[in-house]
Parts: sequence; C-alpha cells; structure tokens
Amino acid sequence: MCGIIGYIGNNKASETIYDGLRRLEYRGYDSAGIAVVDNNQIICKKEPGKLSDLKNLLLDTFPSDSTIGIGHTRWATHGRPTTFNAHPHGDCKNSLMVAHNGIIENYIKLKKNLLAQGHKFVSETDSEVLAHLIEEKYTGDLKQAVLDALHEVEGAYAIAVIHKDHPDKILCARKNAPLLVGHGTNENFLASDVTPILPYTRKVTYLDNLEGALVTKDSIEFFDLTDGTPLSKESVTIDWNPVAAEKDGFPHFMLKEIYEQPQVIRNTIGGRTSEEEGKIYLDELGLTGPEIYRTQRIIIVACGTAYYAGCVAKYLLEEMVRIPVECDSASEFRYRKPLVDQNTLVIGISQSGETADTLEAIRLAKQMGAKVLGVVNAKDSTMTREVDGLVYIHAGPEIAVASTKAYIAMLTALTLLALMLGKIRSVLTPEYVKEKISELKVLPQKIEQILENTKPIQEIARKYINAKSFLYIGRGVNFPTAMEGALKLKEVSYIHAQAYAAGEMKHGPIALIDDKMPVFAILTKSDLYKKTLSNVEEVKARKGTVIALASEGDEHIQDVADNVIYIPEVSEVFSPIINAVPLQLFAYYVADFKGLDVDQPRNLAKSVTVE
Ligand code: M6R
Repeated sequence: MCGIIGYIGNNKASETIYDGLRRLEYRGYDSAGIAVVDNNQIICKKEPGKLSDLKNLLLDTFPSDSTIGIGHTRWATHGRPTTFNAHPHGDCKNSLMVAHNGIIENYIKLKKNLLAQGHKFVSETDSEVLAHLIEEKYTGDLKQAVLDALHEVEGAYAIAVIHKDHPDKILCARKNAPLLVGHGTNENFLASDVTPILPYTRKVTYLDNLEGALVTKDSIEFFDLTDGTPLSKESVTIDWNPVAAEKDGFPHFMLKEIYEQPQVIRNTIGGRTSEEEGKIYLDELGLTGPEIYRTQRIIIVACGTAYYAGCVAKYLLEEMVRIPVECDSASEFRYRKPLVDQNTLVIGISQSGETADTLEAIRLAKQMGAKVLGVVNAKDSTMTREVDGLVYIHAGPEIAVASTKAYIAMLTALTLLALMLGKIRSVLTPEYVKEKISELKVLPQKIEQILENTKPIQEIARKYINAKSFLYIGRGVNFPTAMEGALKLKEVSYIHAQAYAAGEMKHGPIALIDDKMPVFAILTKSDLYKKTLSNVEEVKARKGTVIALASEGDEHIQDVADNVIYIPEVSEVFSPIINAVPLQLFAYYVADFKGLDVDQPRNLAKSVTVE
C-alpha cells in the first residue's frame, strides 16, 4: 500500500526522503516521487518503477538542496502506474504538492466541479483532486485551505502538503489512514508508519482520525480537522531498534523474519506467565472477571494470515475455554448480518492494526454492543485505539509482505489468551496451565532445531519449483496450518495451492490427483494421525506425490510419502506454531529458487488499508 514521508530540518530533504522511501518499500508500490520547496518554487520528480531504478532521478541528480519536502511510494488503485499518476500531485500553478494515501470516494463529483471552475488535471487519480481543491481554497493561509478542502472530501486519507509560499512548514492530516509525526532536534518528520523515520527519531505522535498537524523545523502543532482548534497530544517512544528493520545479513526479510521466530515467541511470552502458579498475565486485556464469565460466544474477525491464526484459535479456545467460537473473514463478517450482543466477545486479529476490513468489522461489533479485543502487532495503530482491550503480540516490525513471524506471534498470544480464559472460567486446572507454560517455553528451542538445518527442506523445495499446483491437507488444529501453508506458497512462488481438510479429499479434490499434483500433508503426531495417514495412502494409490510433515521418530511415514520433513515432536495444541515454520521455509525456498522477488511479491501490499 502507499507510503508517505515528509522532512523539514537542516539536511538535504531529498536524501532523507529517499532513504525513508526505501524503508517504506516493504508496503508494496509501483511508483515513487519526491517534491521539495526551493526558493519559493516547487521541484518535483516522480516515475513508475522500483526505487533502485529511480535512484538517479530521486537521489543522485535530484536538482535541489532544499531542506523541506515530501515523498511517496504509490500502489496503484485509481489509474495505472505512470509518471502522471505517481505522487506527489500538484495544482494548476505548480504552487503546492500533495502526497496522499487512501481513497477519495467522491473524487468524480469533486473533479467535475473543479474542471468546471477551470482546473486542468493531468492524472487519472482520485488524489489529484486534493491538490486542486486546496488550490481553489487557498487565499494565503495554507492550514485554512487544507481544512476547507478536507471538509468537502469523502473517503479515507493521510496527506502531506507543501506550498511554495510556505518554505517553513508541512501540513498533514488523516482520516481512516495511518499517519504519525516524528519529533527530532532542529528537524521533524511525518510518515505513514514508523519504519522510515526510526533511524532519525524514536519519539513519535500518532494522529487520530480527523486530526492534522502543522510541522515546522522546530515545532509541531496539532489541530482538529473539524474546526482547526489546537489539540494537545502525547508522544510515545518507539523501542523498536532501527537495526531490526534491516535485513541483518539475510538475503531477504522473509528469511530473516522466519529466523527471528524463536526470539519472537520468547518476546510474546515474556513476563506474561508464572509457571509456579500456573497463571497467565495479559495486562492490557481490558476484560473484567464478570465480563469473562458473562461471555457466551466468541467471534474472531481477521484477514489473510491473521484469519488463519484465528482459525487455529477457534480450536484452542473451544477446547480450553469451552465457549462456542466462530472465525470469520472480516470482509464477510462486515457485510453479512451477524448476530452479536453484549455477551459476545469479538476478537480482531491484525499484524498492522490498519487492515480496513478488520477495522470495519470490529467497529460494527462495537456498535452492536460486543466487547472487542484486539490481538495486534503494530503499537498505537488504529485498531489499538479502537478496541476495549488488547493483547500485543510483540513480533516487532515485519517487513516482508508475506507474514511469517507475526503469524507465529499471533498463535503464541492466542494460546496465552486461551489458557488464561480457560483458567479463569475453571475449565483448566492450574496443573494443566503449568504444564502448558513449561511446554510453551521450550518451543523456541525446538524451532531453532529446525532452523539449524534447513538443507532437507531446501532439497525438497528445489524438486518442486516447476509444479503448477499443490494441495495442502491437514486435520483438526492443523487444517488452518494447511491453509496458511498454501497461502504462503501462493503469495511468494505464484504456484497455485489449495488447502483442504484431509477428510474432504474423497468428496471431490481426490479427482485432481495424478503424478503432477504434489500433496503436502501435515502428518505430525496427533490424535488424528491415523485418519490423515489413510488420506495420504489414498493419494499414493492414485499415483500422487506426497510431501509429509512428520514428527521425528515416525519411521513408517517414509514407506508411504515421497518426501518427509521431520520436525521435533510437541503436544498437539502447540503443533500449529512449530508446523508453520517448515511450511514457511518451503514456500520461501521454492520462490527463491525460482528467482522471484520474495519480499515484495507482485500485486501484493503489506498493509491493506483500503477495501
Ligand atoms: O495486517 P494484517 O494482519 O491485518 O493483514 C492481514 C492480511 O492482509 C495479511 O495477513 C496478508 O494475508 C499477508 N500477505 C499474509 O502473508
């Protein structure tokens, strides 16, 4: 999704902004641009393409030493990736520039009016209307012009605006799209997320909906977008290390993030358990004992990988808390007529905390009287500010578009939640919780064992790089593991992959089996092992090829499957956490051996902040 950065200070703006845009690359983009104010003139350079190809234009030969500017990476929604459609967008007189994230829903009507007033448009975007609208409203006061323009706008926006007559300020504003400002010394920043400014400052203030900021070199003034009145806002200190946002010697962020997973689990668990007492502490949960007792149903809403984490949680919560749980894609939940009341606990799960469908789903649930809990990675994201309670997953910044460590952290956090609720509702004994806490604590070591020797997975991945389609099968708590494994392969290798509950095979998918359709079977130790094994035997009987994920010590599987990936044995409730790792590695190596852009797969964006 699009990214914004703005800089004002004593350094060359184009250099800081280019560096920031590079750090925003993980969001996915197809064009980029930088605009600065120089000697009461606007200078703007923008082009489609990747930043490495645009380095000459945006950095090496950028024709200005100005110390104020804005930059943007665009992920096309309205209009193709072209030079004219790239941001920032200017007005008719080239007096101002706007970088915009989001969608202006009434742009057609606005554009029609502006055209009638004589404005000339050069792009096909919805965003360009903002530049012309601000131009139309401008009578010398930039803040007032931005306020007046935004009053006519419907939709979602995070914007940054510079004007040739105001070389000392950047205006920014947000509604339903993330935006923050960074506080420096003799310099200040704004950005759509914290990643691009982390090397410069860790002190940031997040803007809430319908808030704006006037950013100068030495000050940041916040104001209400409805009437421009000043607002006083707190800053927060981000403890994410900037080095954590770099590749750290790995060829791709995805691989680096897979290798971070043992530490991520430790961070997620850290300080939240007491093994002696068999207790879990989730400090920001925001649910009282009576509210936990009153809960009659749980509904989980999320998208993509977070949705699959929710599907695993359904099994865990039903087993450990004995409450009926539904898990729904947020995009489905928000448009059906869900049954939700005060005794329903709705859990939204999101790495970014900015996914449009998930946010709308939790807003709907809140309106209907439910208590809403967020299971979130990104601190102070929109979701964290809208829920009644929180469970942070503590995965740290996830840069690769394909989610890996956030998934593992979600599963770990959701397991803690299930144990805690199960204990409070007296479904689980303290002994059971103690036992599970100690098992949870050794999971990182078991994952490290997998990561110490990935050769067998690499060899198997190499064999299948030319496959056209895969089936992934699993049962019970590992059916969602199969779904997540298939999603990972699709996302990064562009190989079609579909997941089925293994018991569904005879009801249709087995018709697909031939020697060209590999089947990836999740066959680690579980109560359902024999059932899944018989599904695998049925595949073999039809000349299918099987890759089995099995627990160490399972020798029988070698006689049945064509390829076996062995991993350490864990109890079934924790198996989705460890089982995800070889599936991520398999997808990663298939894509890497195919020479694909693993970290930024085509057509995908890291954070889906529009529907
Ligand atoms: O930020 P979120 O967790 O809300 O994002 C949800 C999905 O967009 C995300 O998981 C997506 O499916 C990833 N590409 C998965 O790898």
